[in-house]
Amino acid sequence: MTDATATPAAAWDALRAVPTPRLTDLFTAEPDRLSRMVIEEAGLRFDFAKTHLTQATLAAFLDLATAQDFAARRDALFAGAAVNGSEGRAAEHVAERGQGAPDSVAAARALHARMRGLIDAIEAEAIGPFRHVLHIGIGGSALGPDLLIDALGDDAGRYDVAVVSNVDGLALERVFRRFDPAATLIVIASKTFTTTETMLNAASALSWLAEHDVEDPYGQVIALTAAPDKAVEWGVDETRVLPFAESVGGRYSLWSSIGFPAALALGWDAFETMLEGAAAMDRHFRLAEPLANAPLLAAFSDLYYAVVRGAETRAVFAYDERLALLPSYLQQLEMESNGKRVTSTGAPLEVPSAPITWGGVGTDAQHAVFQLLHQGTHLVPVEFVAVIEPGDALDEAHHHALLVNCFAQGAALMAGQAHDDPQRAYPGDRPSTTILLDRLDPARLGALLAFYEQRTFANAALLGINPFDQWGVELGKAIARSIAEEGTERFDPSTRALIARALG
Ligand code: F6P
Repeated sequence: MTDATATPAAAWDALRAVPTPRLTDLFTAEPDRLSRMVIEEAGLRFDFAKTHLTQATLAAFLDLATAQDFAARRDALFAGAAVNGSEGRAAEHVAERGQGAPDSVAAARALHARMRGLIDAIEAEAIGPFRHVLHIGIGGSALGPDLLIDALGDDAGRYDVAVVSNVDGLALERVFRRFDPAATLIVIASKTFTTTETMLNAASALSWLAEHDVEDPYGQVIALTAAPDKAVEWGVDETRVLPFAESVGGRYSLWSSIGFPAALALGWDAFETMLEGAAAMDRHFRLAEPLANAPLLAAFSDLYYAVVRGAETRAVFAYDERLALLPSYLQQLEMESNGKRVTSTGAPLEVPSAPITWGGVGTDAQHAVFQLLHQGTHLVPVEFVAVIEPGDALDEAHHHALLVNCFAQGAALMAGQAHDDPQRAYPGDRPSTTILLDRLDPARLGALLAFYEQRTFANAALLGINPFDQWGVELGKAIARSIAEEGTERFDPSTRALIARALG
């Protein structure tokens, strides 16, 4: 029974009062646990059975969802309402995959048609010919395309794409060393077209073309932005500007023209299939019953550990080289979205917000950080992501070992092992979730990334925060600007001394 009158505070009190049996006991206490805690959707298997979510916990979370108007918040997201209150706009990444307000879906389709037209022109060598693609962007304007190309690009072999984000000149220089300027397409990706790192890197890339006798450097540039006027003012030809909607947030933008280098490298069909995979996950999130809803159950688990059990971090390990960039992609998605200390109305949060997301690649991480996970004093909910079909053609022993290690870690964290010597004892009862993909293809990757987006949204909705702004990044940018413009007088002695020592 759920309580329709509960407040968020009362729901949290109820959650704190639920007894927490050991994980291993849960399988005896709830004989049908596996069938209830495993969800199969869009070629992905989400296994929440090794978490402490019990029937009683889930009932209390349903009360929290009611108290936070979860269903109405989700409807507002899909309706294209102004869910990003502090910036007075909608968050319409779902429209890019055909879900959402009809006008926004139509605008996204028009953008995709333009992207496709430009890809056709590049492939037909009406522009170019290009062999190399230098994608310049940072944060959400780089992490998504980089992940897609790294995950799915192995067999594509169409263009050699480098993604450069850091303002450290070495990042660009390394690409300059291996790319042919005459055959390089420069892609400038910036929602605002003002980000200092991106604009400096773009200017240096243009100079590199000019210094290598490229006759028309601007003719080799395209721009992906929500500020098309700024791109044109910068010098990009209007026909090579692919403008996406202001209502698509930076870290949610890989479905828009920000995904252009991935669509170029992987082929348009692959990009479209990825959008369809994401749309399937959107539909699941919108329509599935709460207790059979993968992003929502994942959010319940996240919040249970962060709020009720005080876990300050969560770790994601991709047991697949192709998903090596997933943890850093998730760091921006989850921490820039939900690293907040006030609700969307400005009231202080009464419970902790997003945990710190970190992680790595299995099996490498087992030989580096897993010691702490098994025997350290911190509680770290772990997420394993693995793929059934191998990405390699070597002896099957490789993939077999990879998957066996992944599943063994989850089992070991949960079961632990007693020992007379405390240094050799494993306490166990350490939670994990496992996401298993049938295979890694565009549809399943699209569904996986949409799952993470909707899980992030669900976390925010259950906390009452706005996941679509990021005011916290502005102060550092402003201070960097003021050092350049006004000098160092107003700063503290430590900062002044560092600047004097390093920059004179
Ligand atoms: O500084 C944070 C941020 O605004 C991110 O949210 C964004 O993805 C990134 O910078 C890049 O911004 P832009 O696409 O406008 O260059």
